[in-house]
This record gives sequence, C-alpha cells and structure tokens, in this order.
Amino acid sequence: MDKELKILVDSEKLIARIKELADEINGYYEKNYGLNEELTIVCVLKGAVMFFAELSKYLNMPTCMEFVSLSSYGAGEKSSGKVSALNLSLPPLENKNVLVVEDIMDTGLTLKFLLDFMKTKCKAKDVKLAVMCDKKCARKYDISPDFYAIDVDDKFIVGFGLDYNENYRNIPYIGYFE
Ligand code: HPA
Ligand code: MG
Repeated sequence: MDKELKILVDSEKLIARIKELADEINGYYEKNYGLNEELTIVCVLKGAVMFFAELSKYLNMPTCMEFVSLSSYGAGEKSSGKVSALNLSLPPLENKNVLVVEDIMDTGLTLKFLLDFMKTKCKAKDVKLAVMCDKKCARKYDISPDFYAIDVDDKFIVGFGLDYNENYRNIPYIGYFE
C-alpha cells in the first residue's frame, strides 16, 4: 500500500481507554454476580489478541481464557458474507458467564453467529460481547456490543491486532492509511 500510515488513537490513549472499559466490565459482573464468580473470556483470533491481552490484565474476577477462530473476511478489506468456524473447540460452558472479546464489530455477522452459538449450543448463562472498535456505520445485523472501547467511522483501520492482508497487527496504536 503506497499510502501513509496515520495515527487514529495513540497507544497511551488506547490503553487508558481499555483500562476504563475493564472497570465498566468489572462493575457489571460485580453488580450481577459478585466478584467471586468465574468469567470465561473468549478471544476471537487473530484480531482480538492484543485487546484481549490488555483488557484481561485489569479484570478482577477469577478468569479463564479461551480462544476461537472464525472467518468472514476474504483477503484485503472485503467481507465474504459467510462465516466459517475454523476452531470452535471450547470446554463445557453451560451455566457459565462468558465474555466474547473481538477487535472490531462491523457488519455484525461473525459476532451474531458466535453469540448465538454460545447461547444456544453451549448454553452459557450470561453471554456478553466486548469489542475494541465499534464501526456502527457498517452494521448489517441487529446486534451491538455490550462494551466497546472506541467508535470508528467508515475508515479502514489497522494495528493493535487489526490487519490489512495479515500485516500491521503488531502496531501498538490504531492507525489508518491516507
Ligand atoms: N480493519 C481491519 N479489519 C477489519 C476492519 C478494519 O477497518 N473492519 C472489519 N475488519
Ligand atoms: Mg477480526
């Protein structure tokens, strides 16, 4: 890509916002279940990996980590419109609190699929969704995150886990090309 990578949200601001979001999440679980009930946090690979690692540091309840991979994206910027589950092997989650953690919500397709799976197939007790970026303008399904760190408009963004053709995931801030 022969455009310049610009900063949308710098590292310091992003990490501060993720800490704030963790407080919100702690508040929700403490109020509803107390802080001794176990929470299973589910990282949607690969994009959520950095957000998941950062967010999890500040959660106060006993926490288990699980990892799944799904795909609805083809190469580059275009969604294929179909979800394929590449790895959905999870321990029994019946009657558990589950927080799905994703990098970005755009159309809502993959996350609708995953949340429905957690509720109906896994029979989890409470399924919530935390996303780093909410791209509301791209939504095609009637679903929204329970917790999100930042709103983004219709820009294609990279960094902090988000990729363009599998590159740029390691960048410690959220950037865009211009
Ligand atoms: N960047 C990277 N991955 C994405 C985006 C984006 O803006 N939207 C949906 N997946
Ligand atoms: Mg993703």
